[in-house]
Amino acid sequence: MRRIYLDNAATSFPKPPAVWEAVLRFATQNGSSPGRGQYAESREGARLIATCRERLSVLLHGEDPSASRHASRVVFALNTSDALNLAIKGVVRGVRLREGLHAPVRLVTTAMDHNSVLRPFSALVQEGAVVRHAEPDPRTGLVSEAALEAVLSEERRVHGAPTLVAINWVSNVSGTIQPIEGLTRVAHAFGAPVLIDAAQGLGHLPFDVRRVGCEMVAFPGHKGLLGPQGTGGLWIAPGFEKLLATTREGGTGSIAELDDQPLGMPERYEAGSHNTVGIAGLSEGVAWLLERTLASVREHELRLIGLMVEMLTQAGARFSGDEASEAQGTSDGPLSGMRVLGVRDGHARTGTFSMVHEALGAAELAALLEQQAGVLARAGIHCAPLAHRAFGTLDHASGRGALRMSLGPFVTEDDVCVAVAALCDICEQATLP
Ligand SMILES: Cc1ncc(COP(=O)(O)O)c(C=O)c1O
Repeated sequence: MRRIYLDNAATSFPKPPAVWEAVLRFATQNGSSPGRGQYAESREGARLIATCRERLSVLLHGEDPSASRHASRVVFALNTSDALNLAIKGVVRGVRLREGLHAPVRLVTTAMDHNSVLRPFSALVQEGAVVRHAEPDPRTGLVSEAALEAVLSEERRVHGAPTLVAINWVSNVSGTIQPIEGLTRVAHAFGAPVLIDAAQGLGHLPFDVRRVGCEMVAFPGHKGLLGPQGTGGLWIAPGFEKLLATTREGGTGSIAELDDQPLGMPERYEAGSHNTVGIAGLSEGVAWLLERTLASVREHELRLIGLMVEMLTQAGARFSGDEASEAQGTSDGPLSGMRVLGVRDGHARTGTFSMVHEALGAAELAALLEQQAGVLARAGIHCAPLAHRAFGTLDHASGRGALRMSLGPFVTEDDVCVAVAALCDICEQATLP
């Protein structure tokens, strides 16, 4: 049976062929320790890492080719979680180094954020930090500037100025795109540096760090950037390294006689050998995106989103973000028991769709989709418990969490048609009297 991969929000699949060709080439023909040996393979490995950094910098600066000269602002990490841990714990350690071990730490994030922000914050609560969450609109998943401002005002009144604000750009539950420029402005008005979790946005939507104005951006290499698993990174704004302490120290292959970690970017945050095999692949994933442009990648996703919305609506599904709209589905279609989280408008969302059925549990739906149609979807709470709580889907009548289907650049219109048709069949069969 044909397999239709709709779990791109977890990790993208397939990847452009050049990704695996580069991985294989580096692993089988080079294999050196990049930049640390006095031989050609080592120099080539170093060039490969530098090229990937340059391509990432271009992508992070609105695809501006001249931004390759800012490549040293990009620090490689294992994945988004690793980059977020460096950002969060590095800021806190920086405060403690400057102001003393018992300096107050006040962290603010949104209830739409992922456990890879919520759990490091929670770990810091055990060390005395205070954490607050800005709540989204429970129908759209949108965190308004007013909601963030209210939390920051209250926080400042009770405890003092915030240490860090971490903001999810795109929800991995509802695909909701947050107004990160406005939210960053609000956080800055309270004197807080801003960390953007770009796990579900980068590679899907055009992006420019200069427009957003944030201090840090954490991103995966293995999702929208189409690289191998085990890759990711943190972009750090010029000068912010003075406030961001290291969280790991070790060999960098440079000024090895120093006791302390070198201050220069990016080696300050890159202790130990790189995942050069993975970076070789990531570089080709980013090159693939730059060649096509993010505008055209987004155009493809918008087409699929439009089709998905239309098919779900025609089958009777309702969107939580448009509860009052007349454009909702018919009440007697096969998906009339289905509630899709977030909005219908493709321009306000990405191709990550989560949904709950009034009678069928998400895990059961996912299992049937795979058995009956080879559709690979994801069920559960997607490491975003507060987002599900906000949508009312943490625990509900038919179970825990939601069914998620997430699109990617290699998903076709036919894949979407097969997946929604299969969902209709399953729901129809299950609800026959
Ligand atoms: C919004 C968000 N943040 C962070 C992560 C963690 O990503 P990674 O697996 O790259 O650590 C994910 C993963 O799904 C995510 O969706």
